[in-house]
Amino acid sequence: MILDSSSVVVVTGASSGLGAALATDCARRGCTVVLVARRADRLAQVAEAVTNAGGTAVSITADVSQESECDRVIREVVGAFGRIDALINNAGRGNMNSIEDTPTEQWRSMFAVNVDSIFWLTAKALPHMRSRNSGSIVAISSVAGRYGHPFNAAYVAAKHAVVGFIAALRTELVGTSINATVVCPAGIITEWADATEGGSIGALYGAAIPRSRTIARESGLSTAPLSRMMTAEECSAIIIDAILAGRTDDVFTHSGTKDIAVQTLQDRCAQEDRFESLWRAMREAYESQRQSG
Ligand SMILES: NC(=O)c1ccc[n+]([C@@H]2O[C@H](COP(=O)([O-])OP(=O)(O)OC[C@H]3O[C@@H](n4cnc5c(N)ncnc54)[C@H](OP(=O)(O)O)[C@@H]3O)[C@@H](O)[C@H]2O)c1
Repeated sequence: MILDSSSVVVVTGASSGLGAALATDCARRGCTVVLVARRADRLAQVAEAVTNAGGTAVSITADVSQESECDRVIREVVGAFGRIDALINNAGRGNMNSIEDTPTEQWRSMFAVNVDSIFWLTAKALPHMRSRNSGSIVAISSVAGRYGHPFNAAYVAAKHAVVGFIAALRTELVGTSINATVVCPAGIITEWADATEGGSIGALYGAAIPRSRTIARESGLSTAPLSRMMTAEECSAIIIDAILAGRTDDVFTHSGTKDIAVQTLQDRCAQEDRFESLWRAMREAYESQRQSG
């Protein structure tokens, strides 16, 4: 697909991290970028970056975990521009709790922001894309949408649901010129780990990195299970290329992660056994974090 000055791109979670980078990349192509998130002050900063990069910015302050807010976003965009060329469902949050420590509200909020929002926005945007038989729908899942990680089961389950949703969407788009893609990044340097519900999860992953390298060496993996962190800009560039190429396959942004996902699919139990020392390191870090309050 083409992204140029005639394109209207909606980016959710545009107030920081990957969403801000995606918005700025679209702006470099001259697009009108609709920035959606809850923090108005941060949206204003990204809007300035979008304008400086050559795009047109429209900020909509909205909580996409509410259906009525998603409805309003799409109505405002269609009302103002009459079209949506790309919908980038990027808004998301993580959680940090063992399953038995996860409050029901946290479980529900993980699904509301990470999954329900994508259903509502996509369902409301699709009729407008269908009327022009054109458009691109992107959802940011995660490698957590492909294989399990401990102490964020609600997030892992939600990101798996995103992969399933986009797979089902593609089967409904057969015969149209509307593309749907799910993106599965590994670590990106953003605010995500600290914005996590239940406390920062960064230390848990940090504690497991040395074991991750040992596992890679011992198992002959090309990349360690916890691969190198990417900048939001690097990750955004890969996603924009995928949109421009009209890719409808699942996009793995970090090298080696697709291999791990495929191996997991082939033999999930063997893969979980292979990574056992990771899970142990994360449990130790989780328990010590809990003890220190
Ligand atoms: N960072 C990683 O390592 C990593 C890895 C794999 C996948 N991902 C995924 O990448 C996506 C982007 O995350 P990020 O890394 O860029 O983290 P981030 O910097 O924390 O950005 C998250 C964005 O989502 C928005 N958001 C959260 N809840 C929202 C709500 N209820 N309504 C509207 N917007 C909401 C936040 O804006 P407000 O707070 O202003 O609303 C923010 O703009 C997420 O889906 C995340 O799960 C991240």
